[in-house]
Amino acid sequence: EKGGYEHFMLKEMYEQPKAIADTFSPRIKDGRIEIEELGMDDEAIRAVKKIVIVACGSAYHTGMTSKYIFEGMARIPVEVDLASEFRYRDPILTDGTLVIVISQSGETADSLAALREAKEKGCKVLGIVNVVGSSIAREADNVMYTWAGPEIAVATTKAYSCQLIALYLLAMKFAHVRGTISEGELAEMIEDLKKLPAQVEMLLNNKDRIQKFANRYLAAKSIFFIGRGIDYAISMEGSLKLKEVSYIHSEAYAAGELKHGTISLIEDGTLVTALLTQENLYKKMISNIEEVKTRGAFVMAVTNEGHSDVEKAADYVVYIPKTNKYFTNSLAIIPLQLFGYYVAVGRGCDVDKPRNLAKSVTVE
Ligand code: M6R
Repeated sequence: EKGGYEHFMLKEMYEQPKAIADTFSPRIKDGRIEIEELGMDDEAIRAVKKIVIVACGSAYHTGMTSKYIFEGMARIPVEVDLASEFRYRDPILTDGTLVIVISQSGETADSLAALREAKEKGCKVLGIVNVVGSSIAREADNVMYTWAGPEIAVATTKAYSCQLIALYLLAMKFAHVRGTISEGELAEMIEDLKKLPAQVEMLLNNKDRIQKFANRYLAAKSIFFIGRGIDYAISMEGSLKLKEVSYIHSEAYAAGELKHGTISLIEDGTLVTALLTQENLYKKMISNIEEVKTRGAFVMAVTNEGHSDVEKAADYVVYIPKTNKYFTNSLAIIPLQLFGYYVAVGRGCDVDKPRNLAKSVTVE
C-alpha cells in the first residue's frame, strides 16, 4: 500500500501536489473564495476583532505561519497558542474572538480540551481538521476540512501542507471581505495558489540533490534552523521534521535572537539552515548568515529564485520558485521535509514510526 515508495512519509510527501489542489479547488469559485462551511456571512467576518489559534506540534507551526498572514493581509490581530498551554491558563477570550483549532487527527487530547474551554467561554470555534467525523470535527461549531486523505507516517507532511492552504484561503477571504486587499491582489493570489501544486512537484523532483546533501550530515550532533517572520515559522517545522524522524538534536531560532545567547552553540562545521523567502527581511538574514559563518557554521540557505547573490554568503543554496510572499512556506518546506527524511533514512531510523511517538496523541 506504499505504492512503490520505500516509506509512507515519502509517499505522502509526493501526494502533496494533489492534496494541495484538492484543498483549494472546491473553495475557489468564479474568482472568489467560497468557504460555505465557515458558517459566517460577510457581516460576521467583519465583526471578528481577534483570532486565537490553538494547536499542537506541526499544526501549531501552521498557526504561527498564519499569524503573519492574517495580520499582514487582513490586519486582524492573531494570537497563537499551544493547546497544552492555552487550556490551563484561563485564557481571556473577549467578545468578537474567533477561535481556530487546527488538527490533522482531530483527536489530539489537548487540542480537544482547548476547543471545549473556548466554547465554554462563549467563543465560536472553527476546526481545521483532516479526519472526517473526528472528535474535534464533531465538537467544533464549524469545520473546514483539509483534503489530504489518510496520513499514515507519524511525521506529518501532506496534512501540514493542506492546513497551510486552508489558512491561506481563510486569510484571503477575510482580507477580501474586510477590504484590506484589492480585487486585483485577490486575483493574483488565486493565480499563485493554482501554481503551487506544480511548483511543489518540481521541488520534490529535486530529491536526489537533497539526499546527497543530507548524507553529509548523518553524524551531526546538532542542526539549527533560522529565519525571520514567516521564515521563522518555517524553521520551526523544518527543525521538528528533522528531529522527530532522525533523532538529531535540532532547534529553530528567530534569527534576530542569535545574538541573545544562541550563537554560542555554533561550532566549526555546525549546519545552520537559513530561510530567506521574505524580501523585506532579506538583508537582515544575510547579516545573520555572515555572523554564523564567522563562527564556523556551514550554511544551507533556502531562498527565492533570482537571488543568486545568496551564494556569496551561504555554502549551499536551494531555490524556490516565485510565489506570493505569503505562500512561500508551502514551497520552502519541501526541501526541509526531504532533508529530514533522508537524514533519517541514512541513519537507518524507523522513519514512519519514530521511537516514542504516536500518530495521534490522545493522552495528555
Ligand atoms: O493530529 P494533530 O494535528 O492534532 O497532531 C498534532 C501533533 O501531534 C503533530 O503535528 C505532531 O507534532 C507530528 N508528529 C509532527 O510531524
